[in-house]
Amino acid sequence: DMVVKKIVCVGAGYVGGPTCAVIASQCPDIQVTVVDMNAEKIRQWNSDELPIYEPDLDGIVKKCRGRNLFFSADVVTAIREAQLIFISVNTPTKTYGLGEGRAPDLKYVESVARTIAECAGGPKIVVEKSTVPVKAAQSIAQILYAAQRDNPRLSFQVLSNPEFLAEGTAISDLLKPDRVLIGGDQTAQGLAAIAELVSVYEHWVPRERIITTNTWSSELTKLVANALLAQRISSINAVSAICEATGADVREVAHAAGTDSRIGPKFLQASVGFGGSCFQKDVLNLVYLCESLNLKEAADYWMGVVNINNWQRRRFADKIICEMFNTLSEKRIAMFGFAFKKNTADTRYEPGSRESSSIYVAKHLLEESAHLCIYDPKVPADHMIAELSNVSGSARVAKQVFVCNDPYAAAKNAHAIVIMTEWDEFKELDYARLYASMMKPASLFDGRVMLDHNKLVDIGFYVHSIGVKCSRPQAHSVRGPN
Ligand code: NAD
Ligand code: UDX
Repeated sequence: DMVVKKIVCVGAGYVGGPTCAVIASQCPDIQVTVVDMNAEKIRQWNSDELPIYEPDLDGIVKKCRGRNLFFSADVVTAIREAQLIFISVNTPTKTYGLGEGRAPDLKYVESVARTIAECAGGPKIVVEKSTVPVKAAQSIAQILYAAQRDNPRLSFQVLSNPEFLAEGTAISDLLKPDRVLIGGDQTAQGLAAIAELVSVYEHWVPRERIITTNTWSSELTKLVANALLAQRISSINAVSAICEATGADVREVAHAAGTDSRIGPKFLQASVGFGGSCFQKDVLNLVYLCESLNLKEAADYWMGVVNINNWQRRRFADKIICEMFNTLSEKRIAMFGFAFKKNTADTRYEPGSRESSSIYVAKHLLEESAHLCIYDPKVPADHMIAELSNVSGSARVAKQVFVCNDPYAAAKNAHAIVIMTEWDEFKELDYARLYASMMKPASLFDGRVMLDHNKLVDIGFYVHSIGVKCSRPQAHSVRGPN
């Protein structure tokens, strides 16, 4: 019988870091070590400047670090000492070979499995936290069981425990999860391993919120959950195009439709398209799974979610180009926001899965010879330059992209402001002051449907928004009584 006293998490990223910080803070009786092959990242986790930004993460790490939370580059020792191992490495979309552009690349997961097989030394519970295709646990188990045959002191159980946290709210999602999902073999040993992991989460998650299933249901549920969420966004974005053409208002439609308790109000915010490290990757993962099972109609259905998202980005860029008289040559455009959503600085680029919609829209505008002045409250300048160079080439970026550290500087002499991220501070800006400093006619493109459009029109802006018919100022700047 095993009681979990030491946990190791392989992969000190967006998932591994916050998840382990919360486990350590909630389980003082368990020692948690987070390891990574990237020694620089480990150095940052041990410093005052953590490698990722999440509200409340700093406080929790500082409270637990050195007590029962450790960050280490010594993967082998940490694995040898732990009873339970989380695999929390990245699983990007494959950029080569079979399944290129769809299937997730499992090379990092496999390499961790091989490291565990080599240095385990005794019985271990191995937990897939990374998002993987259905049956990935079988591949991990196959590698581990080969080692077990050679060494009778070894024994392994592989569990699936996908993570549902969202970036920007990682800590609160982890502290108060809607549910924790644990899948495992439905054998006596499998159920015992599930019970061990349940007992870790039970330190702070009510038992009825911990769902246990077989391994394949758990793996599939993670893909399905993200596909359903992404599908809602693509659905409302498809509707947004109808609204722009007809005069229906997507905010009113989403609200009125979402009031039906069967539909629900969340995740119906029309936008310039979803970004982030998961939605596109995981939907493509599901598409590939369908294809490999010869389920073409199911694959096409889910592929539509990604297609609409790319169309929405292109459509928004085209709207900007069209409204600016079909030429952006030499025109200055102020982009407000670069992050794929507020409260995160994460716009990571993994080859084959460009993430923030800002990257795509910027690329289209740069192709039209626009000069982009980008302001984002959190994303570092070198990060933006690297992302854009990746898609548009560094020569073009050097000539046409300017990163500004305040929105007023970005908008000065610009022909348009383009809202890309729903940062709260964009609601509080002095738009009359911005307008006064801009070229005329001045346009504002609201990619997040977040501003008070009537107010902007009163100031003099031409306002174009996702999901709302364009509003133009009247020839005399003050609006009439009707
Ligand atoms: P990440 O890129 O932030 O971190 C992964 C880390 O794993 C990196 O630091 C990398 O150096 C390390 N790594 C890779 N191979 C390694 C190896 N062999 N040994 C040691 N370290 C290794 O990724 P992430 O965002 O934390 O995502 C991890 C997994 O969780 C992915 O499968 C992702 O789909 C899933 N997920 C992510 C989120 C999210 O919001 N980011 C949410 C839910 C699930
Ligand atoms: C997502 C899932 O929510 C999370 O459960 C999973 O574990 C990882 O992937 P994340 O990508 O961090 O999390 O952020 P999320 O809040 O889901 O937003 C993803 C993208 O969709 C963002 O670009 C966001 O702006 C966009 N979005 C979200 C919309 O455009 N409209 C909405 O109504 C909601």
